[in-house]
Parts: sequence; structure tokens; C-alpha cells
Amino acid sequence: MINVDILCNPYLGEPFKRIENQLIGLASGHKYQIKDDIPVIIDRSYLSRRNRFNNLIYDISAGLYERLLSIGDRFNYSQDISINKDFIQDLSFGPGQKILELGIGTGYSTNYFPTDIEHIGLDISWNMLQQTKRNMQKANREPRLIQALAEYIPIKDNSIDMVFQVGTLQFTEDPFKAVSEMARVAKHGTTIYILDEISGGMKIFKRSPAHGMHVNSPTDLIKELPRLVPHSMTDIKSQALPGDHFYQLQFTKPQIRIS
Ligand SMILES: C[S@@+](CC[C@H](N)C(=O)[O-])C[C@H]1O[C@@H](n2cnc3c(N)ncnc32)[C@H](O)[C@@H]1O
Repeated sequence: MINVDILCNPYLGEPFKRIENQLIGLASGHKYQIKDDIPVIIDRSYLSRRNRFNNLIYDISAGLYERLLSIGDRFNYSQDISINKDFIQDLSFGPGQKILELGIGTGYSTNYFPTDIEHIGLDISWNMLQQTKRNMQKANREPRLIQALAEYIPIKDNSIDMVFQVGTLQFTEDPFKAVSEMARVAKHGTTIYILDEISGGMKIFKRSPAHGMHVNSPTDLIKELPRLVPHSMTDIKSQALPGDHFYQLQFTKPQIRIS
């Protein structure tokens, strides 16, 4: 199970104290359950219609998800598995590091990670997390899972050595908030990675009229994606991946300068 010391109430920023299977906000007294070793840190009143819809769709499809992905890959329809594998194999991290994956799905990325890291997975869908848990247990890996929103990550500031998400940003209600949350929980000096479909990326800009009017083609998208990144971040890179079906956005949280 995830070490609950790094968790916090994402809506109020307060730390928790754990009493049996409850996490209790130190200032507010708000309570969140730990079910089957998975902290459930979602405040239902903050769920948008989009969040509720995606939660339902992924809860329903969790049992079929992996089969659908491998059919898509086999018939060259989606390439999700091969793109994900190439992406994860290129990431670099050291032993003992904490790696946070947002929208972990069924957790197949875990197969490509070494066993000496702490791979933490967050997802909105309980059934997807259950599938991940089974997959991790089969592979003799410790599941460290949280049910929460990518827009409200229940992890303390500057705690994570590497943060990434694959195929998730397009489903968030507020992609600007979701990206700034990734930056908040990352340690200084950490690189943050987002890999998603180009068509999904265009949709999130179209939902925001001020930005959407500038995004009418994949080339526009690659140019505009850095707008999602908080101003204080550095080394921002936005690129289309070969095949022009996926994009990758990455940036670094700068080191603190001591003067
Ligand atoms: C397309 S799947 C990608 C799963 C996995 N990363 C992969 O590559 O197979 C999107 C995942 O994001 C999750 N999701 C959707 N909206 C979310 C949100 N607002 N916060 C956290 N997870 C979300 C879904 O439940 C689903 O597991």
C-alpha cells in the first residue's frame, strides 16, 4: 500500500492523520476511507459531469480494457501499447525513487519498470484500480494506488521524483489545473511527462474558447501545448510522435536557487 505520510487533502492542502481505515484532515476533520488498501480521496461534490461520465465509462469497461488495447495494437488501429512501451522504456530514474502515474488504467506500464522503484498509481475509476491491483499482485509487485482526480492530486508538494501520464489529460475537466498539479507534487529538478492523443489534445483546447481559436490543426496544437505549463517551469518541449497520432509534452520543475 502507498505510504500515507505523503498524502494530503487535495482540496484544502491539510495533512491527514490516519485512524484505522480513515484519513482525517487535521484542520477540517474531513474523512476519507481506505478501502482494500486504496485511499479513496475524492470529494464527490467536486466531480464535474465529465468526471462522472468518464468514471462510469472506465468502471464499465475495466474488464475489457486490456483486450481492446491489444486488438487495437494488433490491427494497427491505436498503437497504444507500443507507444506506451517505447515511452516508458526511455524514462530514466534511480532505485528507490517515487514515480507517480496519473490515470494508471490497468497498470500495464508497471511491467516495464524495475522492481526497485515506488510506482504510485492514481485513477478516477475504482474498477480500473482493482484491475491494476490484480495485475500488480500477479507480477509480484506491491500495489501503491489512490482513487483520486488528476485535477486534485492528494499528495504533498515536492514529494515525487518523476510524474507522468499517458492518455489521461484529454479526459480531465481542467487540463490547466491537472498540469499544474503535476508540477506541484514533483520535486525540484524533476521532469514531468505527458503523452496523449493529438485528437484528444485538440479537443481540450477547443473546450477553452480563448485557446481553442488558435488550435485548428495538429501543428497548431504542438505550438499551443506549452500554454498548459505553469510559467515558472523550464525546458518545455512539445512534439508530435512518429505516426502523428500522439504528442509528447515535457517540462522540468527548476531547482531552487539559494542566493
Ligand atoms: C485512456 S485510459 C489510459 C490508461 C493508461 N494510462 C494506459 O495508457 O493504458 C485513461 C485513464 O484515465 C482515467 N481518468 C479519466 N479521467 C480522470 C481524471 N480526471 N483523473 C484521474 N484519472 C482519470 C480513466 O479512468 C482511465 O483509466
